[in-house]
Amino acid sequence: RTLESLGDLNAKTVVIRCDLNVPLRDGVITDDGRIRASLTTIRELREAGARLVLISHLGRPAGAPEERYSLRPVAERMSELLEAPVAFSSETVGEEAEAARAALGDGDVLLLENLRFNPGETSKDEGERQAFAEELAKGADAFVSDGFGVVHRRQASVTELAGLLPSAAGRLVAAELEVLQRLTENAERPYTVVLGGSKVSDKLGVIAHLLERVDTLLIGGGMLFTFLAAQGHAVASSLLEKDQLDTVRGYLAEAERRGVRIVLPTDVVVAEAFAADAAHEVVAADAIDSSSFGEAGIGLDIGPDSAVAFAAIIADSATVFWNGPMGVFEMEAFAGGTRAVAKALTETRGFTVVGGGDSAAAVRALGFADDQFGHISTGGGASLEFLEGKALPGLEVLA
Ligand code: 3PG
Repeated sequence: RTLESLGDLNAKTVVIRCDLNVPLRDGVITDDGRIRASLTTIRELREAGARLVLISHLGRPAGAPEERYSLRPVAERMSELLEAPVAFSSETVGEEAEAARAALGDGDVLLLENLRFNPGETSKDEGERQAFAEELAKGADAFVSDGFGVVHRRQASVTELAGLLPSAAGRLVAAELEVLQRLTENAERPYTVVLGGSKVSDKLGVIAHLLERVDTLLIGGGMLFTFLAAQGHAVASSLLEKDQLDTVRGYLAEAERRGVRIVLPTDVVVAEAFAADAAHEVVAADAIDSSSFGEAGIGLDIGPDSAVAFAAIIADSATVFWNGPMGVFEMEAFAGGTRAVAKALTETRGFTVVGGGDSAAAVRALGFADDQFGHISTGGGASLEFLEGKALPGLEVLA
């Protein structure tokens, strides 16, 4: 259901579930992409005269307030971007929140404190989630689900709340679905997926699913070492998930059977320690233990030859989906692979989608602009689960 199904929202109180889970360092927002992505729906509903109550989580607090997870800096940033006041309630539910909501005029915006300061939000107990959702629904006329990054979560503000009020998907959720459907239904070939990030275990489902639909999988990031080890190579002190070796061997065999290319780096950047100023050198991917650092060597990025090879494959692709940095991009010495892949995505004529909070933050931190990519998804786990073909609870309740 889209916003149109909610009818005239003038003077109506509308709760919008956003995903304003932005990275913060010392209380300062380091990437405001998710706030910007939320503005389309907010602006449209303000213009329609609705009274907006925004709700979101930030980080993973354990059901109680923690200053470092406060959404207050987000209210300030949103106010700057909207060029309009955004009121903030330091309570999510309760008297202060109710008074702030009652004070809203038509087109006004209020952001409530972090949903996850309340145990009911993420409770495994449906009754507790329901009770918290009822608190959130008080005084509201409609619910808009626009936090694409959380639609894979069964949580009070995502699933139960939608059942209590007339509800619809917001513009961000609708836009994300349109793009991601292009990848699952009729992606133009050749279709290349670039996977990075630290753990194979986080990507198990999606790798299995992708082997059925893509032409080429490029593997980088921390998980590449489990792939190298599965091929029998020594990886010294690099990240290795021993319990995934058999699974990865299964993927390699399955890929061969299906004619899907899994491309691993041929060289890697190996460092003496996990530190920005650590000594480092480039070695062949099948000889990581022969670096000057011996068994202490840790692979922290794909090497320059691999970056060139990955870029060439991306250049020849008609569709590219990328999730997960190629190396420890936060440290300049190990950012080369991620930068090369990002650049290749901006240069290919293929349709490009960057998925996941980390990858989106990486491309912006490295100086690329959002409009250099076909689409930057605000969802990390959500976009991967969508590509896996899983039913997403936050979308099912809107169907
Ligand atoms: C994300 O960052 O992927 C979303 O905000 C969801 O956060 P979560 O993984 O803590 O539920």
